Amino acid sequence: MKATARAHANIALVKYWGKRDRELNLPSVGSISLTLRELFTETAVEFTSELTTDELILNDRPATPEQTGRVSRFLDLIRTQAGIKQAARVISRNNFPTGAGLASSASAFAALALAGTRAAGLTLPPRELSILARQGSGSAARSIFGGFVEMHRGTRSDGQDAYAEPLADDHFWDLRLLIAITDEGEKPLGSTAGMEHTAHTSPYYSEWVRSSEADLAEMRAAILARDFSKVGELAEFSCLKMHALAMSARPGIVYWNGTTVELLQAVREQRKSGLEAYFTIDAGPQVKVLCLPENVSAVRDFLSGFPGVQRVLETSPGPAAHLIEESA
Ligand code: DP6
Repeated sequence: MKATARAHANIALVKYWGKRDRELNLPSVGSISLTLRELFTETAVEFTSELTTDELILNDRPATPEQTGRVSRFLDLIRTQAGIKQAARVISRNNFPTGAGLASSASAFAALALAGTRAAGLTLPPRELSILARQGSGSAARSIFGGFVEMHRGTRSDGQDAYAEPLADDHFWDLRLLIAITDEGEKPLGSTAGMEHTAHTSPYYSEWVRSSEADLAEMRAAILARDFSKVGELAEFSCLKMHALAMSARPGIVYWNGTTVELLQAVREQRKSGLEAYFTIDAGPQVKVLCLPENVSAVRDFLSGFPGVQRVLETSPGPAAHLIEESA
């Protein structure tokens, strides 16, 4: 069987940083995200006896051994669950510029979880898919769903309560997220390594974990009330809190460049002069700006003209991961 799935990227409004279990990839904090319509990964999976080892084509090129190994380990989970042994041919493409330093592991592992299970003859309910996707990448658990999504940290050691679930779908609230690319290069330290180093060395880590529940409760309520000022304020807070935590590791991790810092100051100045927009930043130097639809063109103009910004991508709430093709 062969199956092709599409899954969208997401942006965390309350950040995930840190794991309580490395083997099962269990997060030490919950998180809340928005799935993004314009950025997605499409992945085709076919299990076949023609192959003896898994093969991965990524954005039209053979993947590196590291990338193939990570996908193979993930496919092993599916093979075990389905009771099959065949190797797979995996063809995956991102519709967004690769090497743009945008998180692609979320959409990648969500698409792989859906296409892979279907190709293996399994039909998993979304929650099970989310648990599976989490084992590829924590943020991928959220990309199984559309709209506003909450990931639960869970407390069980088998990870069965560490899944994402939708808070509100993609039609609930038309927010916009503009992504200002300030550096196209690879980030120096990936999220997995960055969070592990932080958990081991930051004196603030336990407080980050302890205080996370309150942030989640506030964000959940603000989203459901469609309170844009509150959502924006909390998103900035969670972003700066996560980066402050990473900076407090030893040695500290700084994901920002000069333009990143200039931009977050400028977003706040713009806000003071009446343009309501808020920033968030992941484990890299790109600045993502949240605004309401009526302010998109003003925010776009401001970001495109900003020194050091290479280009700007516009995104809006997007749908859940879904199948686009299936054949026997
Ligand atoms: C800063 O999901 O990439 O984007 O589980 O190790 O694959 P792994 O980490 P990943 O981390 C995402 C970190 C973040 C915040 C977030 O998306 O919540």
